[in-house]
Amino acid sequence: MASIAVIGLGPTGLATGVALASGGHRVLGVDIDSNRIERIQNANPPFHEAGLKPALRRVIRVGRFRVANVFEPMVSEAEFVFLCVGTPSRDDGSMDDGALKTAATSVAKAAIDKRRRTLVVKSTVVPGTTETVIRPILDSSGAPFRIAVNPEFLREGKALADTLHPDRIVIGAGDSVTAKRIRALYRPAKCPVYLTTLRTAEMIKYATNGFLATKVAFANELANLCDVFGVSYDEVHRGLALDPRINPRFLIPGVGFGGSCFPKDIRALAVAGQAHGYDPSLLRAILTQNDQQFLRAVELLESELGSLRAKRIALLGLAFKGGTDDVRESRAVPIAKALKERGAVVIGYDPVATTNFHKAVPDVVIATSIEEALKDADGCIVQADWPAFAKLSAADFLKPMAAPVVVDGRRILKPNRMKGVRLRRIG
Ligand code: UGA
Repeated sequence: MASIAVIGLGPTGLATGVALASGGHRVLGVDIDSNRIERIQNANPPFHEAGLKPALRRVIRVGRFRVANVFEPMVSEAEFVFLCVGTPSRDDGSMDDGALKTAATSVAKAAIDKRRRTLVVKSTVVPGTTETVIRPILDSSGAPFRIAVNPEFLREGKALADTLHPDRIVIGAGDSVTAKRIRALYRPAKCPVYLTTLRTAEMIKYATNGFLATKVAFANELANLCDVFGVSYDEVHRGLALDPRINPRFLIPGVGFGGSCFPKDIRALAVAGQAHGYDPSLLRAILTQNDQQFLRAVELLESELGSLRAKRIALLGLAFKGGTDDVRESRAVPIAKALKERGAVVIGYDPVATTNFHKAVPDVVIATSIEEALKDADGCIVQADWPAFAKLSAADFLKPMAAPVVVDGRRILKPNRMKGVRLRRIG
């Protein structure tokens, strides 16, 4: 069993660390945020992730998962160091590699004993970053590092399950020994393992998120066009799915994609492509399509209610999707702002994301239940696909609302259970 340091304990790092510890390895987690460390030490995950709390408690109890906010002692004990720090967008959309450089520098400093270690880059980085940014920092230590890129494909909200049961493992490495050592860490995983180069592994991550975001943007464009031509998107989708070349999954239209990954990764890839003299016109179009899509939900409300001035609008789902408390790039933010600009009173509700949302948009009234949000409302937008919303039926809207106008921005309500509700969906 290996000794592994995981640097950066966001959803990716924490799920990776807990999954590796559950697989029998000794894991040392490091994060600069003391508050986050304290919560993890108390087996209280700092974000909402299904199944994470009991799994974390288990690995802490058996002594296979320890955490700290100082790098050196943790890293010096480890044979493997996983870099899981964030690579957010800069103002111009390019990838901010600041945290990555800081972490790599700390790893280099901690490798003072000059023992051979393997550094695994899990952070999403534009092709070439590991070779041109991370490797020189590690080499400056004089320690003999093996380097690999091992992107993650986990979904927020399902981070632990996706890490424990991946659909594929991609390992980019400069040599086959390094690749085999990392592959051995995942021995229980029963899925295809693809060994490739550092740059290719970096690109596969962007290719995956880019393609998935393209599917969502295409579904949204198609749904908007279905509205123009008076055709049902659901029926078009059924016909589309009969083509064996087209995978029908991930084509649910709505108010657009959000989250900490798709928007920033598409932006970073586009900006990096541009910096190399290529004009990524399709990626730019996807971002433009997505930036405007949320307005369709507001327009559908207006088409039912006329002016939204002084109207009470319930906004169900504040996280960027169901199953998480993450509000980064949540479509609830521009929707709430657009409703307020039109003079509406917005009452937001989310099973777990209200605190985070309140920090992002302080002037939205927050309800503590679905019923409270819907009370006396003139209209409602469902923005996130929480299971609790999918279970709602006509009576849940008809009883509390002043006017039962509901825009389903995630296509989760069952139209056949909505008798009497003026249900509108995009497409
Ligand atoms: C995404 C990818 O799915 C993961 O494979 C990847 O590892 C992760 O980014 C990452 O790079 O870390 P995530 O951001 O958690 O995962 O969320 P998704 O479940 O992919 O959804 C992204 C957005 O697209 C959400 O706002 C969701 O509501 C929207 N979406 C998704 C649609 O509008 N329609 C769909 O059919 C599917």
